[in-house]
Amino acid sequence: MTEASKPVIWIPRRLSDATLERARRDYDVIVKEDDTPGTADEIIAMSATADGMIPCHSEHFSADVVAKLDPRLKIVANHSVGTDHCDLAALKSRGIAVTNTPGVLADATAELAFMLMLSAARHGVTGDRIVRSGNWDFWSPAFLVGKQLTGARLGIVGMGGVGRSLARKARGFDMEIHYHNRRRLETEQEAGAIYHDTLESLLAVSDFLSLNCPSTPETEGMMNAERLAQMPKGSVLINAARGSLVDEAALADAIQSGHLAAAGLDCFRDEPGGNPVFAAHENIVMMPHVGSATVRTRDAMGFKALDNLDAFFAGKSPPDML
Ligand code: 8YV
Repeated sequence: MTEASKPVIWIPRRLSDATLERARRDYDVIVKEDDTPGTADEIIAMSATADGMIPCHSEHFSADVVAKLDPRLKIVANHSVGTDHCDLAALKSRGIAVTNTPGVLADATAELAFMLMLSAARHGVTGDRIVRSGNWDFWSPAFLVGKQLTGARLGIVGMGGVGRSLARKARGFDMEIHYHNRRRLETEQEAGAIYHDTLESLLAVSDFLSLNCPSTPETEGMMNAERLAQMPKGSVLINAARGSLVDEAALADAIQSGHLAAAGLDCFRDEPGGNPVFAAHENIVMMPHVGSATVRTRDAMGFKALDNLDAFFAGKSPPDML
């Protein structure tokens, strides 16, 4: 590529240093320096200046926005594996290429799900608060007694990359792995995990339940009051996938009633922000949507988005074309 022919790329969020360095080497890069979500107006305005964009899940390409995009914009190379912030059909009908970043964030996200599971099971947040406050003045054998992972049944909803990575980690903790997935995995990939052909069947056996499926119209509100009631009493719900999977009022009720012992959440319906109702419950451990936020994974996600742009602007099909 000669200097004159470098495509212009808009990067609305603060990507990793290594990603920005490589992007600046190969493209004319416009970064939104304030690192706040790109608004509909900004996306539309930038489409007249940029040939490609690297948005995160914080930039929303709704049908309305897509209809107003300038024909200059040729590719949306997402810095995310999830694409629920994009109306894919609308983008495709405008002839705009769309890519995502599969295969590189499973381990980081599964690690965070595991952290939530351990913290929820063993009162991680409460314990830290008590010691940190300087008010730790009591101990008893009955103090902060938790739930042991060893031998417990872990139900995984969605056995994609994150679900399988979580299963590998859970095996190291001697958990019994159960899963529900649109299709059953090959025996080798199952590695002893027990398949349930319905979600209901999985719920009934899950001492811990981890949601690892995408947000789609079918999974919207999937964990509603009825489904939460089908989980065993004293079980724990983990969600490091998308807030839309859970009916948050029903979850708060299930925690309040003691039906669920705890929950660990990295995703909420309102982001950023979360749900203030959850703050009253210390047995709900919360993180601000940072499942893939490790140095290694942020670099890998950024590089994948750039690989997709490189292929596209070289006239090839991007490896992660949707
Ligand atoms: C990121 C994610 O937080 O990839 C996804 O779908 O939700 C997360 O990995 C985010 O999109 C980073 O850009």
